[in-house]
Amino acid sequence: MKTKKIYVCQNCGYESPKWLGQCPQCHAWNSFQEVTVAAKTTAKKQPLSTSQPLALNSIPALAPQNRLKTNFREFDRVLGGGIVPGAVILLAGEPGIGKSTLLSQLAIALAKDNPQRQIYYLCGEESPQQVKLRLQRLAKDFPGENFFLLPELDVDASLATIRQALGTKPGLVIVDSIQTMTSQDASGGPGSLNQTRLATNLWRQFAKETATPVFLVGHVTKGGLIAGPKTLEHMVDVVLSFVGDRQQQLRLLRATKNRFGPTAEVGVWQMTDHGLEEVDPGQLWQQKDKPPIGAAATIVLEGNRPLTLEIQALVSQSFLPTPKRVINGLDYNRAQIVLAVLQKYLRLPLYKYDVFVNVSGGLQTREPAADLALAASILSSYYNRPLPSDSWFLGEISLLGEIRPVNQLARRQKQAQSLGLKKAYSWENLTNLRQLVPLVRPSK
Ligand code: TYD
Ligand code: MG
Repeated sequence: MKTKKIYVCQNCGYESPKWLGQCPQCHAWNSFQEVTVAAKTTAKKQPLSTSQPLALNSIPALAPQNRLKTNFREFDRVLGGGIVPGAVILLAGEPGIGKSTLLSQLAIALAKDNPQRQIYYLCGEESPQQVKLRLQRLAKDFPGENFFLLPELDVDASLATIRQALGTKPGLVIVDSIQTMTSQDASGGPGSLNQTRLATNLWRQFAKETATPVFLVGHVTKGGLIAGPKTLEHMVDVVLSFVGDRQQQLRLLRATKNRFGPTAEVGVWQMTDHGLEEVDPGQLWQQKDKPPIGAAATIVLEGNRPLTLEIQALVSQSFLPTPKRVINGLDYNRAQIVLAVLQKYLRLPLYKYDVFVNVSGGLQTREPAADLALAASILSSYYNRPLPSDSWFLGEISLLGEIRPVNQLARRQKQAQSLGLKKAYSWENLTNLRQLVPLVRPSK
């Protein structure tokens, strides 16, 4: 076979006949790697064998009971009611966030509930001993005969093994991680675009042919790209991203793509000593008798679910020519806008103050609905007085200093009521940002 050398961007898959420093498609630097591919031949192709068209009503519908329930309430919710047979599900997340832990727990539960189903855990990242150690930490009693670890990095070999072992029996495969898998038919080292793409394709073919669900673990880089191959996302049926602050306990599972269900659902978990525990987001909020100085509550929506957040601000006198602005958990630019609005419309001399902002529990939100709570927390810290107890704040702040309405008010109000947050401050009862000041300013 004639071959030729081309250069492929490891980030987005752009191909070029010569090496480039920066990718013209995704603008990544130094992302090109040399790859050997088969040169196109001019010989006439064999005609393809004809494929069989299927009449629409001859295709059996997928009954809801065919979905494999995991009995993890939060997981089933994100998947839209369970795992669809033959689905390829990519679980993406930063290293150390808990992907292996989540899938190990899932595998144990599924193995116990479905003794006739064989579960294969491909451990490319860790040795079987290490995986066993984790499993022992996660489960008191071990699943029976239907749980297998497969320490194999070659896709073709592992596929052959699993195909043979399964026969026509139902199975489930977890590949941890797709970036460690290689095939002899692709060039490049493990984790390269070429290898990962081929491996994903082979697993996809296997999943569709045998109706076996396949979970692929994929590491993402800091920027949120699925390491190198962003291209993986459209090769799979479902993309789940597992996010959170590694130093904190809370983890969110979001479906960023789901061919079989909604993407508006989010699952909430908590990392503990004995694995991940499902959390009811309402329980995350701890009521305090008197809110601390600089803290304001707000309710944002994660998909369809209301999450109560505490926005914390610290405003302290600055001795720097350019005061510090440290914003964690909120959008940096939005926070800058809120600071500028407070400075201009309330004449707060924030240019003389360092401002630090945090969201409790390491949570994040990009919703402008949190603007008003941010403004309230800054005022509270600036005047050194707490906000009223049982209060919460909702509204977007515009560049003109107005408080703007946000959507789904009823859903947020319901959550507030159930948590005992009785007093709401929003565009409904505030016409002007200035009305926040009497809440915290000492009366003269
Ligand atoms: P892991 O699932 O290995 O992360 P990933 O596969 O995404 O790289 O877990 C990462 C962290 O979770 C690790 O630092 C230890 C912690 N952990 C717990 O806190 N409790 C547990 O029960 C387990 C298994 C892990
Ligand atoms: Mg892992």
